[in-house]
Amino acid sequence: MCLKCENISFGYKKNNLILNNVNLSLGSGEVLGLIGDSGSGKSTLCKILAGYENNYQGNVSIDGKAIPSKGYNPVQLVFQHPEKAVNPKWKMKDILNEGHIVPQDILDSFGIKKSWFNRWPNELSGGELQRFALARALSPETKFLIADEITTMVDAITQAQIWNIVLDIVKELNIGVLVVSHEKKLISKLCHDVVYLDDINTV
Ligand SMILES: Nc1ncnc2c1ncn2[C@@H]1O[C@H](COP(=O)(O)OP(=O)(O)OP(=O)(O)O)[C@@H](O)[C@H]1O
Ligand SMILES: [Mg+2]
Repeated sequence: MCLKCENISFGYKKNNLILNNVNLSLGSGEVLGLIGDSGSGKSTLCKILAGYENNYQGNVSIDGKAIPSKGYNPVQLVFQHPEKAVNPKWKMKDILNEGHIVPQDILDSFGIKKSWFNRWPNELSGGELQRFALARALSPETKFLIADEITTMVDAITQAQIWNIVLDIVKELNIGVLVVSHEKKLISKLCHDVVYLDDINTV
């Protein structure tokens, strides 16, 4: 399978384009890095790829077909700030199983403890919360993972742990991953290939 965006142009305001004529493709099982300066439009592109932003010009498709706007989204986006992606009024077990029942082996891989299930999101650390967000995003129905600075909030050891788990799971499920980061070292360790947003953005 191939996730493609073609000729994407987008601005939050009129006459102020953030992205111009951007093309990118991501294959199943591929781990592709995306690097760019702060404010250059990486998160914006992530949102467009995952269908969170619709007001753009151009085309996003999987194997030439539009991504369905209803039902499970095969393109899962995980953000830098997991607390923004969860409902603060829901207990962790409800957040985790909102879309599907997350299999026990995925929970075990991420080291998610049963005792965390009855907590509120603000009773977990950023790294613990991100494990929930990733476990929830890596369903068997997920075809592509857009990982937007997902480990920026944790220390180097936890970063390596989380990425080892994610890479194991995506390999097993043949998921394609876009790894967005400022850290060139991390990208070169994890990714098969790397794209610089400035090189593909003619804004
Ligand atoms: N909702 C919004 N409304 C208006 N402008 C926005 C919005 N979100 C982002 N922007 C602006 O769009 C530009 C690109 O932002 P974006 O978040 O995509 O950058 P980024 O490359 O992800 O940066 P960072 O590395 O800091 O996360 C920035 O100038 C930002 O201020
Ligand atoms: Mg960003």
